[in-house]
Amino acid sequence: MRALITGATRGIGRAVAHALAKEGYDLAITARSLSDLEDLRQELRGIYPHLEIIARSADLMEHYDIDALAQTVVQHWGGVDVLVNNVGAYTLGRLGENEPRELETSLKVNLLSAYKLTLPLLPAFKAQGSGHIFNIGSIVTRQPRVEAANYTIAKFALDGFTKVLAEEMRDHGVKVCSILPGSVNTSSWDGIEAPKETFVQPEDVARSIVAAIQLSSGAWIEELVIRPTDRNF
Ligand SMILES: NC(=O)c1ccc[n+]([C@@H]2O[C@H](COP(=O)([O-])OP(=O)(O)OC[C@H]3O[C@@H](n4cnc5c(N)ncnc54)[C@H](OP(=O)(O)O)[C@@H]3O)[C@@H](O)[C@H]2O)c1
Repeated sequence: MRALITGATRGIGRAVAHALAKEGYDLAITARSLSDLEDLRQELRGIYPHLEIIARSADLMEHYDIDALAQTVVQHWGGVDVLVNNVGAYTLGRLGENEPRELETSLKVNLLSAYKLTLPLLPAFKAQGSGHIFNIGSIVTRQPRVEAANYTIAKFALDGFTKVLAEEMRDHGVKVCSILPGSVNTSSWDGIEAPKETFVQPEDVARSIVAAIQLSSGAWIEELVIRPTDRNF
């Protein structure tokens, strides 16, 4: 079994990498920092020496990097059983406060990173007739956040992609799931005063993904909303 995880070196992606390795998945892990990737690869190899861990540095804002990453995985493995499109970036600003091009940046990192990486992998998913794709969205598509307008718009766009993808892949035995977390205790919150121990923990998201994969072949979790119990976050 083979899994590709984007943004694997910190936060949710890192927890998912550990959880899928524990389940026996060979991993392709990606992020921009090569040294962080190498550290994670060494850490995983220390715990799971029998697994294959491919570490590829890629900036998922860059079309060339995304394409090269997809080609590496297709050429090396032929495809993957699990794809976790986790990369995203939260930005603040109400409508009109930021330059219009900042929406384009937000769409690149939150939507196009997933869209452009997934499309070249679809023929392999269809040929194998099974698999799982998880797109990490956000609770902002349930409760639009006016102070994070571009992020909210971009996560709605990602949700649209996820829904179309789910319908497209349903008849090919591939389950596509939208994960919508509220506040998660990750490095995204570095430097911000907040009761992070009351947040959703990255391992909670990882456990949910493992549980969704383990359902019987006829059952499909289409969407998972994971909120903190703390009403203020
Ligand atoms: N944390 C929350 O409260 C929260 C809530 C709802 C939804 N989410 C969503 O969950 C996802 C993960 O968030 P997180 O908080 O776990 O993130 P995080 O802790 O900030 O980690 C981000 C990961 O993505 C990589 N990354 C960032 N930009 C990248 C780029 N342009 N190209 C390639 N890799 C990149 C980072 O490594 P490098 O810096 O080395 O590239 C790192 O591995 C995001 O989609 C986010 O929107 C988070």
